[in-house]
Amino acid sequence: MKKWYAVIGDPIAHSLSPFMHESWFDEHGIEAAYLPIHVEPSQLKKSLEAMKTLGISGFNITLPHKQSIVPLLGKLEESASQMNAVNTVNFDGTHYVGSNTDGDGFVRSLFVHAIDKTSKVLLIGAGGAARGIAFALKRAGFTNVTITNRTYRRAEELAAETNASAMTLIESEQQLAEFAIVIQTTSVGLATGEALPISLDRVKSGTLVADIIYNPLETPFLKKAREKNCIISNGVGMFVYQGAIAFEKWTGIQPNTEKMIQMITEKLG
Ligand code: ATR
Repeated sequence: MKKWYAVIGDPIAHSLSPFMHESWFDEHGIEAAYLPIHVEPSQLKKSLEAMKTLGISGFNITLPHKQSIVPLLGKLEESASQMNAVNTVNFDGTHYVGSNTDGDGFVRSLFVHAIDKTSKVLLIGAGGAARGIAFALKRAGFTNVTITNRTYRRAEELAAETNASAMTLIESEQQLAEFAIVIQTTSVGLATGEALPISLDRVKSGTLVADIIYNPLETPFLKKAREKNCIISNGVGMFVYQGAIAFEKWTGIQPNTEKMIQMITEKLG
C-alpha cells in the first residue's frame, strides 16, 4: 500500500525536502509520496492528531515547530531530547517518535572530506544549531572540540555539556591556525557585506571550513575561506544528510547522497 510522508512548517512552499525524498522514493521503487503541509503554530496539535488519524508514516518538522512539537510527541530519541528540538518523526506502531538528525547529518557531511576524529575542531556559535552539532561531534567520537561564541558564557555551558573546551571570539581568532576544521553555525554573514562572526586572517591554508547555511551557496565566510585557500563545505551536505538519516529511519535504505548534493546545488546555483 502506498505510504505517505510529509514536512510541516510555516512557511513551507520553498522547502526542498519534497523534491529530495520523492527523488529517493522513485530511485528505490518505493510507492510513497511526500507532501509539504503548511501548518500554523496554533494548528500544530490538531495537525498532529490529523496526521495520526490519516496514517502518515513519518514526517519532518521545520521552522517554527521544531521545539514546540516536543511536548506533543509520545516518545523522543536522545538526539531530540538533548536538543529539545525535533526535525524527524517516525511511527513505531503506537507512538510518533521524535528524533533530530540535523547534528548527525552535519557530522556525516564532514566525512565527505578526509578528516579524522582527533582533528582540532573550532565550533563557532552556541545556539540551537551549534548545540545539535556539538552533541553529534561528541557522539561521533571527536575528542578535540573548542566552542567559541559572542556570549562566552553560552560557549562555556555548551562545552561543559559536550566535553569540549571554550574560548572567547578573540582567543579563537588569535589561535585560528591551530584548528584543522572550523564550523560556522551563527546567522551572521547571511547577507553579502555583513561582518563575519570571526576574522579568518590567521586561518591556515588547507583548513576545512564549513558553514551550515546553504542559501546562498557561498556565504561571505566561505568566500573569505576560499580566498585563504581553505577547503570549503557549505550547508547543502548537512541538508542532504539530515534527510538521508530520516529516509533510513523510515525505509531502512541508505539513499544516494552524492548525487542529491549535486542536484540540490544545481537547483540553488
Ligand atoms: P540557531 O538556532 O540558528 O543556532 P540561535 O539559537 O538564535 O539560532 O543562535 C544564534 C547564534 O548566532 C548564537 O551563537 C549567537 O550568539 P549569542 O549567543 O552571543 O547571541 C550567534 N550570533 C547571532 N548574531 C551574532 C552577531 N551579530 N555576532 C556574533 N554572533 C552572533
